[in-house]
Amino acid sequence: MWGAAVACPVMHTICVDHPLVAHKLATLRETQTGSVIFRALTEELVMLLAYEATRGLATCDVQVTTPVAPMQGVHLARPRPMVVPVLRAGLGMLAGMLQLVPIAEVGFVGLVRDEDSLEATTYAERIPSDLSGRQVFVLDPMLATGGTLITVIDSMLARGARDVTAIVLLAAPEGLARLAEAYDHRDVEVTLVTAAIDERLNERGYIVPGLGDAGDRLFGVV
Ligand code: URA
Repeated sequence: MWGAAVACPVMHTICVDHPLVAHKLATLRETQTGSVIFRALTEELVMLLAYEATRGLATCDVQVTTPVAPMQGVHLARPRPMVVPVLRAGLGMLAGMLQLVPIAEVGFVGLVRDEDSLEATTYAERIPSDLSGRQVFVLDPMLATGGTLITVIDSMLARGARDVTAIVLLAAPEGLARLAEAYDHRDVEVTLVTAAIDERLNERGYIVPGLGDAGDRLFGVV
């Protein structure tokens, strides 16, 4: 294994502890990093995080004939994993995820956060109605209050998914606590994979020290 993953006490949380992740994350956070580099770094970080996040992907045995001898290998099992980027910032993570898992199917969900109440509301959804037996990977760069991720994960569980992994770049302790409260007692497999757990949220719901607004930094301010 080339990437040490630190299991954290809350829920099933994996904080990927690796020098490459730490280096890229520090550059990503830097105010001077413009959107071209920010997008490239996000893609690279997602590939590193996804390597850990996909460790439990289901496989099936296949017969392979090498130039030397027949052998038994494995392929990823069907049904194909489902990747769900949360619009808008999660779109910046999709390319990295698909580089690693090109056979995945992609669903989309759009949520907008009210800047006063910090509540998330869904404005778009393109997800199969039946996700039973599917391993689902939700992509959203920032776990802040947890409202967005809980809304999305609940939607996946309501469609029959029982194994949902959220991949984020940064997590706040407040969001982790809300996720644990939501899923610790339930008979579902919910995992969070992150590159770092930061100090706290500020009064505007931003992660401190964080990296600012991930959507704006990826795509420019709207
Ligand atoms: N969303 C962001 O883009 N940044 C934060 O710090 C919190 C939520």
